[in-house]
Amino acid sequence: MADNAATTAANTDTQVETAAGEFRRRDFINVAAISAAGVGGAAVLLPLISQMAPSKDVLAESTTELDVSAIEPGQAIKAVFRKQPLFVRRLTPEEIAAADAVPIGDLRDPQTLAERTKEGHTDMLITMGVCTHLGCVPLGAAEGENKGEFGGYFCPCHGSHYDTAARIRKGPAPTNLVVPDYEFTTDTTVVVG
Ligand code: FES
Repeated sequence: MADNAATTAANTDTQVETAAGEFRRRDFINVAAISAAGVGGAAVLLPLISQMAPSKDVLAESTTELDVSAIEPGQAIKAVFRKQPLFVRRLTPEEIAAADAVPIGDLRDPQTLAERTKEGHTDMLITMGVCTHLGCVPLGAAEGENKGEFGGYFCPCHGSHYDTAARIRKGPAPTNLVVPDYEFTTDTTVVVG
């Protein structure tokens, strides 16, 4: 009997509460249902997307093979290596001489052209096309683009100038354009990575 009285009291409480808070509670139920649908949708989509994209491990080990035979002295191409731009440039004898003429002590990030290229291929300069300041893509790889004050690459974002060995010479970038790991597998084929 006492139990029945308690149940009745509880029911009465609920009814009172329902009358007062009906709108809010119904609202909450709708929001909760929508959120659950949203989460369900995302849960279905995410595995699909992650199946399409290469995993981090695969990407980290991926290589890019390039045929550099068609690049004339003074020309450069833009390629992609691990989803980032890559500059491949065949230097002219004048550009090589200009790079070699710079006293190493004048450089912010001291490196010779020989150290940034492969033996027997000092005319082939391969670097990432990513400014070492804040990651913009510098100009200078495509025909007619501004090569900056030192004839290499110019980053217009904040004015970094790189020389013909893609070494930082002026502006805020702290280091030279990065030379990735690569090797010549034939005289005209390069495998980067
Ligand atoms: S990102 Fe290139 S100068 Fe700032």
